Amino acid sequence: MFQQLRALAPDSILGLMAKYRADPAPHKVDLGVGVYRDLAGNTPVLDSVRRAEREVLATQTTKAYVAPAGREEFNHAVEEMVLGALHPVRRDRRVRTVQAPGGCGALRVGAELMRAAAPATTVYVSDPTWGNHLPLLGSSGMRLERYPYYDARSHELRFDAMLERLEQASAGDAVLIHACCHNPSGADLGEAEWPLLLEVLERRRLVPYLDLAYQGFGQSLDADVEGIRLLAQHLPEALIAVSFSKNLGLYRERVGALIVVSESAERAEAVQSHVLQIARGIYSMPPDHGAAVAAYLFADPGLRSAWQSELDAMRARIRQMRALLTERLRATTGDDSFGFIRSQRGMFSLLGVSPAAVDRLRERQHIYMTPDSRMNLAGISPQNVDYVAEAVATERFA
Ligand SMILES: Cc1ncc(COP(=O)(O)O)c(C=O)c1O
Repeated sequence: MFQQLRALAPDSILGLMAKYRADPAPHKVDLGVGVYRDLAGNTPVLDSVRRAEREVLATQTTKAYVAPAGREEFNHAVEEMVLGALHPVRRDRRVRTVQAPGGCGALRVGAELMRAAAPATTVYVSDPTWGNHLPLLGSSGMRLERYPYYDARSHELRFDAMLERLEQASAGDAVLIHACCHNPSGADLGEAEWPLLLEVLERRRLVPYLDLAYQGFGQSLDADVEGIRLLAQHLPEALIAVSFSKNLGLYRERVGALIVVSESAERAEAVQSHVLQIARGIYSMPPDHGAAVAAYLFADPGLRSAWQSELDAMRARIRQMRALLTERLRATTGDDSFGFIRSQRGMFSLLGVSPAAVDRLRERQHIYMTPDSRMNLAGISPQNVDYVAEAVATERFA
């Protein structure tokens, strides 16, 4: 059976992690892996999460199956957090939410739903986008196309080119949009862009597929979902893949949800039946533990506010590191060519240097980032920022 299989090249980010681990240099810096890090370089269990987890473990009476949709109270809380309690699609019963194994699980179930509903759909993804979008959406058999989004050399959003490309899409095609904290660029759509995008989606009858993996990492829990709320309010259909890996620090527990907006309450019911059948056919049911912890935390006012403080602190730390790195790069390079890092959002920015410069940074300076020059700003600390700024100034054109 397996004689025809040849070993595949290792996943580039896992390969990078292995190289970093094997590097004996004491001053090495990991800006590659996409997890939050505190000042000491750790990815801690949040205190609010630990407290919720203790309660869940102390009061749990069974490990019996939950359901393909996961926990109802979790789904309810997620929908409220993303759309807001009073959103018209909730009032009109046009929305359904199911728990999924992380944002990846949600993205894949959503892709399978689109394929079941309309197999000829093309899904447009941003150029650049998170590397895993392509296999997650592509392996469902959907056709993928790219729309221009960000120019890593000029550090500018290519918004006009994006809209021009979407004008050429066919009615019914889907557009994958990063809701906030664009991965890898850190360049987000703003108040000016969302309504213009809405206008094109509405007129061209395109379906937004929103990827929300960093709610609370950009500006605030509410501000980061304003674009989602706007599109959901005015368009007949939308899909939203939600991840709690970053904002609850529950990466390995696989906590996520898929929210689907349909044009009527009746259609939403039909869509839900397909979503559940798809989940049943892939993993049957999502893992319970992380969602149980999240649901407990969301429902407890004390824990919820403690979590929001911890989330605010994570966001503030990333912003501080953005400002600090920008300032040190200005000092070492003598110009402001890295000023964009300060104003971008979320964990990532593209340094905008060549793959050869990325190689030199890794081989000569022991600084690790992905070949597209994506940096995780949470890997920067007051201890390593001078070193990183010097190294970038030395290697960027060398
Ligand atoms: C843009 C984006 N979407 C989705 C995810 C999904 O994350 P997970 O499956 O770990 O919840 C990630 C994680 O890195 C991401 O960066």
